[in-house]
Amino acid sequence: MQIKNICCIGAGYVGGPTMAVIALKCPDIKVTVVDLNIERIAAWNGPLENLPVYEPGLAQVVEKTRGRNLFFSTEVDKAIDDAEMIFMAVNTPTKTEGEGAGMAADLRYVEACAKNIARVAKTDKIVIEKSTLPVRTAEKIKEILDRDGNGVHFEILSNPEFLAEGTAIQDLFKSDRVLIGGDETKTGKKAVQALVDIYLKWIPKEKIITTNVWSSELAKLASNAMLAQRISSINSLSALCEKTGADIEELSLAIGMDSRIGPKFLKASVGFGGSCFQKDILNLVYLSRYYGLDEVAEYWHQVIKINNYQKTRFSKKILEELHGELKENKIIILGWGFKANTNDSRESPSIFVASYLLQRGAILSIYDPLVKKERILSDLKKELKKVKLSNYQIIKLFNNLEILKNYKSSIHKSKAIVIMTEYNSFKNHDWKLISKSSKVIDGRNLLKNYNYSIGKPNA
Ligand code: NAD
Ligand code: UGA
Repeated sequence: MQIKNICCIGAGYVGGPTMAVIALKCPDIKVTVVDLNIERIAAWNGPLENLPVYEPGLAQVVEKTRGRNLFFSTEVDKAIDDAEMIFMAVNTPTKTEGEGAGMAADLRYVEACAKNIARVAKTDKIVIEKSTLPVRTAEKIKEILDRDGNGVHFEILSNPEFLAEGTAIQDLFKSDRVLIGGDETKTGKKAVQALVDIYLKWIPKEKIITTNVWSSELAKLASNAMLAQRISSINSLSALCEKTGADIEELSLAIGMDSRIGPKFLKASVGFGGSCFQKDILNLVYLSRYYGLDEVAEYWHQVIKINNYQKTRFSKKILEELHGELKENKIIILGWGFKANTNDSRESPSIFVASYLLQRGAILSIYDPLVKKERILSDLKKELKKVKLSNYQIIKLFNNLEILKNYKSSIHKSKAIVIMTEYNSFKNHDWKLISKSSKVIDGRNLLKNYNYSIGKPNA
């Protein structure tokens, strides 16, 4: 079956970049990305320098494809009706209420998509799970589609996304693997082949894996869990390094040179952030408990517990370095995004650290090259609300807060410079800008402290 028309529901960090790349590589396929969020769609249709998702290389891909065979629209029903293949790339956050609150994935957006597709579709459709979902969600989707549908045939595939933010375009161009889960039936195999044919336009055959649907769904959760587990492992060892005089960077190097272990994801940090690692592990923990596997659940839960421990440990370290004297000492936080080269700050460790310090009376300046001021303020407000501060208390704390457009002119006035995100510009300081008594507390790579004198590091 040759696909001519694709619809993607969800124009976020996954839907936008993945569909832009499909449109680029498959000029004969019309790709329409739809979303209920009118502002987001307007931004996708607006100036290239203001796309709602920042990713290196994305604007260039959108420039080549937008209006040619890539379209962004709020007309969800029309796009569903026109397409033979529909990707669901909507958000699947952790549930905040009801059964499984705080652990299970909230599937309401996925279910809403399924209901919408069922209602609108008048011809057979291939429906693809692009969102990260609990194992066996395809069963639920199928149930909705068949129950609410107009008698047409729906084939459900799982095609989880493995891109990382900040390198999304590169990851999509040269994926380590593409995973497609489908049914072993005749129609299932045909649908899998239709999707394989799309990826074959730029991904080598041997990198496209086809499995059953449940393996594909679970492999996505497991991959994220394994990546996060490496970070928590190295972060736990960073605490031991500090007690023993071992150096965490030297440790990472030595461990990572074992070809069985490998060097990636062994960088100690303030803790991992991002919208997915925590929610996907919590989901895995929930699923394990649901199936009565308490030991398995506890094993994975520990990855999150170490991550929280590391964020608190780092925040306490800043206090220690300033001898608890926060009121007279201005602190600059460099980096708000959860990693470099993204405007995404979901679950960024900076939010925890800044809120911890503000609550203890710190005078803070925050700088990020991509995250907007309004976003930083709303992240902080949400975090402070979580610890039950009133609006009045939050406004009072915000009097001690400044969001910087440029950090260099303020750096010499700061007692502590806290590096949270791995930008080269933060790494390669202009030492002349830092005053003799400033402390640079580097959370990017290790929980080490440096005392720098003007001109050269003395630690
Ligand atoms: P996002 O929040 O950036 O985007 C989701 C979009 O879906 C939003 O714009 C929202 O308005 C839209 N939406 C929700 N319900 C809708 C509906 N019924 N109809 C139309 N639009 C609707 O989320 P994201 O970061 O792109 O993540 C999407 C999924 O992909 C999640 O399951 C996530 O776990 C997974 N994932 C994310 C990444 C990543 O790097 N962000 C990587 C791999 C997988
Ligand atoms: C991660 C996975 O890498 C992707 O494969 C996956 O598709 C995606 O989650 C998802 O499902 O959302 P992402 O969260 O965008 O991608 O970025 P990562 O590069 O994995 O970084 C996540 C966090 O871990 C960041 O806060 C980063 O600073 C931190 N990290 C990463 C470390 O602390 N140490 C490391 O060695 C590597």
